[in-house]
Amino acid sequence: MIPNTLLVALSLLLLSGCIAAESLYQILGLKKDASDADIKKAYRKLSKKYHPDINPDEAAHERFIEVSKAYEVLSDTETRTIYDRHGDAGLKQHEAQKQGGGRNPHDVFAHFFGGGGPAQEQKGPSMLTNVEVNLADMYTGRNLEFQVPRKVICTHCHGSGAESESDIHQCTQCGGQGVIVQRQQFFPGMVGNVQMTCPSCGGKGKQIRRACHLCHGNKVIDTQNTLAVHIPAGAPEGYEEIFQGEADEGVDWEAGDVIVRIRSERIEGRGEWTRKESGIMGRVTLSVAEALLGFERNLTHLDGRTISIQRKGTTQPGEVEVIEGEGMPSFGDIPQGDMYVEYSVILPVEIADDTRIKLADLFNHQISHISRDEL
Ligand SMILES: *[C@@H]1O[C@H](CO)[C@@H](O)[C@H](O)[C@H]1NC(C)=O
Ligand SMILES: [Zn+2]
Ligand SMILES: [Zn+2]
Repeated sequence: MIPNTLLVALSLLLLSGCIAAESLYQILGLKKDASDADIKKAYRKLSKKYHPDINPDEAAHERFIEVSKAYEVLSDTETRTIYDRHGDAGLKQHEAQKQGGGRNPHDVFAHFFGGGGPAQEQKGPSMLTNVEVNLADMYTGRNLEFQVPRKVICTHCHGSGAESESDIHQCTQCGGQGVIVQRQQFFPGMVGNVQMTCPSCGGKGKQIRRACHLCHGNKVIDTQNTLAVHIPAGAPEGYEEIFQGEADEGVDWEAGDVIVRIRSERIEGRGEWTRKESGIMGRVTLSVAEALLGFERNLTHLDGRTISIQRKGTTQPGEVEVIEGEGMPSFGDIPQGDMYVEYSVILPVEIADDTRIKLADLFNHQISHISRDEL
């Protein structure tokens, strides 16, 4: 599941020796219609990849500078428009007018990642999904498709929250700075300036006049994400499959992971088999005659095969018979398990008096409460 942008970026890197000049979009592995969120995402990935702290290679450092430059231009609506219309030449002219132009790539990086090092990448929350399946599915293995709700960046506003570009205005309260400075009296005679996040725009420096009709300004929309899980045969309880980057998308983070955790259904009294680690447990109920004289039973295994049990002798209530190699299949380091069949014996609720006599004779048993004459 390598994102396309990364693939493009990788192939561009391989080719960069023979390409005359890459566009700023190509440097970030993007097309011209990339959204703000795409640009952020590409910069987040690539700047980390080439950051000198991670990649000490000289070529990587040069790439880091290029990536930072591309991001700086394309993340700003004004410079992006200039670049789109007039290309490199237009950009140079604009920078010359502004004097200096171009920030230190490390400042761009620090600004983007909130001043921390490359390790402090913002990742969105991960999502844990518990899925219960039949024990039979864990015995035989199964592919399972299901849907989970997922928020994705709005397809109309690409995460700006505004109906159109022209609906985004500079915040009037803070003048686009995102912060306001207030005079405050700390104690009598001492007054100072307190800098605070602009309450009007929440620190963004922008205000939206008309909210996006699709996401209502939320920047993300609700969708259903289809996940295909492969449950391997013999998977242990709590087996996890991790879908990287498939959790909710957000404007300020890279999507977290969806963790799918598999368990067998825990519905009491359903199905004749239960599981204990790699063992499979079943119960067989015998009549008194069967417990004393022997029996034959056909049990249906989880995969539908018949397991035949035969006994000629007696069986104690609570006795457990081990049928080797008929437990869960081996999985990784976990060896193949065994099957455990526990016997219980049902006694008759009532016995007719004549039967009692017969049984007493048979077992040479004294019946104390009832004399034979009474019968
Ligand atoms: C068990 O299955 C075998 C083979 O299918 C059959 O011959 C036998 O009669 C069955 N026994 C019982 C107790 O159902
Ligand atoms: Zn929207
Ligand atoms: Zn503001």
